[in-house]
Amino acid sequence: MREKIVAGNWKMNKTFSEARQLTTEILNQNLSTEVTVIIAPPFPFLQSLKDATKNSNIKIAAQNCHAKEEGAFTGEVSAKMLASMEIEYTLIGHSERRAYFHETNSFLKEKVNAALAHTIKPIFCCGENLKEREANHFFEVVKSQIEDSLFHLTEAQFENIIIAYEPVWAIGTGKTATPAQAQEMHAYIRNLVSKKYGSSISAITPILYGGSCNASNASELFKNPDVDGGLIGGASLKAQDFAAIVNAMESIVVANA
Ligand code: 13P
Repeated sequence: MREKIVAGNWKMNKTFSEARQLTTEILNQNLSTEVTVIIAPPFPFLQSLKDATKNSNIKIAAQNCHAKEEGAFTGEVSAKMLASMEIEYTLIGHSERRAYFHETNSFLKEKVNAALAHTIKPIFCCGENLKEREANHFFEVVKSQIEDSLFHLTEAQFENIIIAYEPVWAIGTGKTATPAQAQEMHAYIRNLVSKKYGSSISAITPILYGGSCNASNASELFKNPDVDGGLIGGASLKAQDFAAIVNAMESIVVANA
């Protein structure tokens, strides 16, 4: 069975002491070993949380990385730097980066290359906004986000990609995609990957759902055959809610075993 993943994107939340406290609380939940559990804290907390989780099965991700290795890019952090801290994952192309920092598909392609060059797995985010959903353009938007930023990769490189479908209209709005909407898009994405890289690669590509996923709706979303877990924002900021989402994925893994 393909890898199931629940990742918490903390965004720009928590002070250092709150971040350490939340990490301790998450560790105390004794989360599943069947599900890959990832937390993505803000950059300044990475090393401390990496140390705190070192004897656990919780992985640490960055929320972003720059495309260049080093140089005059004030305020930025490179994949090379993350790799030097043994960070294994980074989000790339979150819709907030696309919207507020004008990150384009072609720039994100460079970031994907940079992460892979340093053996960091990209959690590549894609998804349409409300206008695009209402105009029935959602498939085309997601298709070009994925094709433009990922489809130059070799098969061997693509095996390291995790995709997160996050409809922008569902992020932080409390308006989750229905399980049917999520499954429809995830199946579409898997088919796109299959056409480009073949069915054995598409069968192992994890595709996560993100956007107002919480303890109450996670199970219904994760039951879909092409939904391999979640990228969780708000609900990842409370250990018990995050644990409930991980446990929802775990129950489905166990039921399908
Ligand atoms: P919410 O779960 O708060 O809607 O955020 C989703 C998200 O953007 C995760 O990357």
